Amino acid sequence: MFVVVEGILLFSVLRFRHKEGAPTPAQHHGHTTLEIAWTLAPALILVFIAVPTVRTIFEVAGTAPPGALRVEVIGHQWWWEYRYPDLGIVTANEMHVPVGKPVSIDITSMDVIHAWWTPKLGGKRDAIPSHHNKIAFTADSVGEYMGQCVEYCGASHANMRLRTFVDTDSAFQAWVADQKTTPALPAKGSSAEAGRADFQKYGCIGCHTVAGYSSGPIGPNLTHVGSRSMIAGDIMMNTEQHLRDWIANPPGMKPGSIMPNLHVSQPDLTDLIAYLQSLK
Ligand code: CUA
Repeated sequence: MFVVVEGILLFSVLRFRHKEGAPTPAQHHGHTTLEIAWTLAPALILVFIAVPTVRTIFEVAGTAPPGALRVEVIGHQWWWEYRYPDLGIVTANEMHVPVGKPVSIDITSMDVIHAWWTPKLGGKRDAIPSHHNKIAFTADSVGEYMGQCVEYCGASHANMRLRTFVDTDSAFQAWVADQKTTPALPAKGSSAEAGRADFQKYGCIGCHTVAGYSSGPIGPNLTHVGSRSMIAGDIMMNTEQHLRDWIANPPGMKPGSIMPNLHVSQPDLTDLIAYLQSLK
């Protein structure tokens, strides 16, 4: 646009500049037809764009039909909390929804402004403290959908990803049933049992909730962390090595992480990982 406009301007300035002896050019006051045309044309283009835009805005405005699955999304620096108020489930970073069923999502934040966005499932919604934004959608195909926080929210904004699993109805029901169970206690004398004690020894219980054991309100709920595919705000796959890297140095993996380096000894780290992996 710049090149075209400036090009025509430069051409006219040079081509029609004053020359010695040239007669005074004809004087025009304006051109009514042209002026009406270049006012109307953009107005019509805008109306043409506005119709589908406004229709889509209403379509995704967040009013889901009654009976929709309700999910509360809460942004934290730097991870996402998901609550299913009708199912009594609390989880983090990974949301599960059934295919073909309307979902009603309520979005807010615990600290600063974030924005929840899963491109294939609908528009962006700001997650604002003390304010609730809504989004509604019905996912029409089973799969794994990536998302990302899209409002700059501090040092690890880029490390605040999210993932939505659209499950078949039976897979979703199985997931719900699993999430509602309290994980079994680790076997006597196992590494995981020692890890469960370390979870208290290093103060993990102060920040993390594990149903039936701890009720820390700060970090992600870890009741079923062993069944998640990713950890640390969806930036690392949930493998033993990544759990090791993460716990050994959270701020190194995710700058600004509220979870500090707790200087867990190597043997304790192995036990702690065994415990976390047992939380299915
Ligand atoms: Cu949260 Cu950007």
